[in-house]
Amino acid sequence: MELYIVKDNIEGAQKGYEVIKAALESNTLKTIGLATGSTPLTLYDRIVNSDLDFSNVTSVNLDEYVGIPGTHPQSYRYFMNENLFNAKPFKQSFVPDGMNADEAAVSKEYEAIIEANPLDIQVLGIGSNGHIGFNEPGSSFDSITRKVALTKETIEANSRFFETIDEVPKYAYSMGIKDILGAKKILLFAYGASKADAIQRLFEGEVTEALPASALKNHKNVIVIVDEAAASKLSK
Ligand code: PGA
Repeated sequence: MELYIVKDNIEGAQKGYEVIKAALESNTLKTIGLATGSTPLTLYDRIVNSDLDFSNVTSVNLDEYVGIPGTHPQSYRYFMNENLFNAKPFKQSFVPDGMNADEAAVSKEYEAIIEANPLDIQVLGIGSNGHIGFNEPGSSFDSITRKVALTKETIEANSRFFETIDEVPKYAYSMGIKDILGAKKILLFAYGASKADAIQRLFEGEVTEALPASALKNHKNVIVIVDEAAASKLSK
């Protein structure tokens, strides 16, 4: 893993933007895997305020809550439309269908999408518990798209976006760790002190399913971009 420590999430976004721009300009970006959450917002803002053209690029999002429609302001489809797609059109954009209660059908369909659109770059955030996508601690490194139960920690972290904690969905459809590792290049961003433990464990701990992000150490092309707060627990 290649580590870049940046001043803040603006500098982090610029670094990520440059990687994506270089891939676009060398014609090697056909499909990009995208993430939601606070972390990629500055990256999406940087892209929206650029003249880069994504009209020939397919996007595949990591995950979606189960049980809320794409029109729900907290759905990840809505988030992507609002923060990226409305301003920067893509060729096509895939997000798991959270309203389809048939887990097996969602899994089969999403795996077919990933197979037909191999991920050139995957954008990732990291949970304070080390999750990537909604692959919570204990997820198999061989996992593929499936329905997952969110941990209490994740439900609490995400409750900031809902009126009450009871409204936070308890399940999501998430691409698996195997899907993520299938990307040619992975860009992981982490900002803020709440990510410092996870980043410390990622770089200085072992490869273990207890820290889903540690699976990235088995991948040859990972760029990790963290701000100083998220890097603060790394031994120098
Ligand atoms: P955040 O979430 O970007 O909102 O901190 C990251 C994650 O949980 O993967």
